Amino acid sequence: MKRHAVAAVGDIPDGGRLKVEVAGRSIVVFNVEGAFYALADRCPHQGGPLSQGHQIGELRASGPGRHSYCRRNMIIRCPWHHWEFDIETGLSQIDPAKLKVRAYETAVGAAPGCATAEPLVATTFETVSEGEIVYVLL
Ligand code: FES
Repeated sequence: MKRHAVAAVGDIPDGGRLKVEVAGRSIVVFNVEGAFYALADRCPHQGGPLSQGHQIGELRASGPGRHSYCRRNMIIRCPWHHWEFDIETGLSQIDPAKLKVRAYETAVGAAPGCATAEPLVATTFETVSEGEIVYVLL
């Protein structure tokens, strides 16, 4: 798997997203609470741009009248016909067995040419220092 530098960490603030082109593919990179996720910027329905969609969370019900809102900003809703996909897995919220957006692995590491220890996986923001680069792995 090859690493493609797509942005500096500071280019995608918490809650933000950035559309990038990697090896001829349009990809949208999300920052949700300091973790980076990448999806193909093409809805499997009719090709809508997920980079222009609305981020929401999940509403779960444990029984009648009992519900909770969770996974804030982890769902992207296509702007064209409102199909929804999990930002982490790319799976459809309605039919995950049949519908999926391509999800890419991400990592955060030092800029190319900088001496560093092992690359850090972008699961927490504490591992990131200024000047580091966000990578998408294809
Ligand atoms: S193109 Fe995305 S829901 Fe139709």
